[in-house]
Amino acid sequence: MQDIYILAFESSCDETSVSIVKNGREEIATVVLSQIDIHALYGGVVPEIASRMHIENITLVIEEALKKANMSMDDITAIAVTYGPGLIGSLLVGVQAAKTLSYIYKKPLVPVHHIAGHIYANCLVEPLEFPLIALVVSGGHTDLIYMSENYSFERIGGTLDDAVGEAYDKVARVLGLSYPGGPLIDQYAREGVDRYSLPLPKDDDSYDFSFSGLKSAVINLIHNEEQRGHEIVVQDMATSFQNRVIEILTKKTMRALKEYRVKNLIVAGGVSANKELRERLEKLCDENRIHIIVPEIRYCTDNAAMIGAAGYFAYLLGRRAGLELNAKANDELK
Ligand code: KG4
Ligand code: ZN
Repeated sequence: MQDIYILAFESSCDETSVSIVKNGREEIATVVLSQIDIHALYGGVVPEIASRMHIENITLVIEEALKKANMSMDDITAIAVTYGPGLIGSLLVGVQAAKTLSYIYKKPLVPVHHIAGHIYANCLVEPLEFPLIALVVSGGHTDLIYMSENYSFERIGGTLDDAVGEAYDKVARVLGLSYPGGPLIDQYAREGVDRYSLPLPKDDDSYDFSFSGLKSAVINLIHNEEQRGHEIVVQDMATSFQNRVIEILTKKTMRALKEYRVKNLIVAGGVSANKELRERLEKLCDENRIHIIVPEIRYCTDNAAMIGAAGYFAYLLGRRAGLELNAKANDELK
């Protein structure tokens, strides 16, 4: 079979990224231009700034990716782009760039759901084996998904309120840590002691999660301690919070694997970069003879290589879009 080279775009939040991926598994070149330093000044992503920066950077990022790959548009089979979900102004920049190149160079245009991208980031590690359970943990999503084959997504549970990454970022903020707080809590949690009394959220028989109560419990505890004149030990709070999060995520994930009789687990999304979560899941999977794949750290947070991998399988399935393709702030994974 002829090799398929996907030129992929990701601009759903605060990373402008373009990648070239061969046959859905081999990253040829990726450029990720992160805006984190700028948004950190405001304590979170400012949508207007994000879209303006995507506009300023997108052409440079495309040129850089092709240059890094030592390829031209003639070598590209198809163009894949994140059309949603995400920040609408940010998504539009990637979608417009992809549509323009598709039109000028007469290349098929493949729409990719952002979460499909996170899931298929695992293909860049090794081929997926089905059926599998995907634990998706990002800034905008927390889902448990059953997949019987490629592009078959059955959501068996998910968060009822805050996404897990969102909870990390909000807790980090009240602890006075900079944006994005997830990686910092990850780091501090390794130095602390689990000594703050926090609830295990939504510890029930469902596959759903809830993190807003845990977040509120952290905020209340901090206020109460402050009123008593006690200083909060950031490391200890990070450990206590993270332990509850990881305990409930791992508990429900392992139960899903057992009940669905699935032997393959993949982890996806920005929070899958969390060291403790990776270690705990790897240990549990080892004990229960489950085959686990976690993406390399650089493929955990937003990047276009994952869109290139997901785009390849969507391309094989004949998924196409025309110039009418529009960005969607929200859209179901299908
Ligand atoms: O997938 P992602 O890059 O963007 C979305 O699609 O949302 O995820 C970003 C989220 C942020 O909330 C960030 O704090 C969190 O992932 N994150 C982490 C870690 N690295 C990134 N959370 C916990 N531990 C980490 N090491
Ligand atoms: Zn993401």
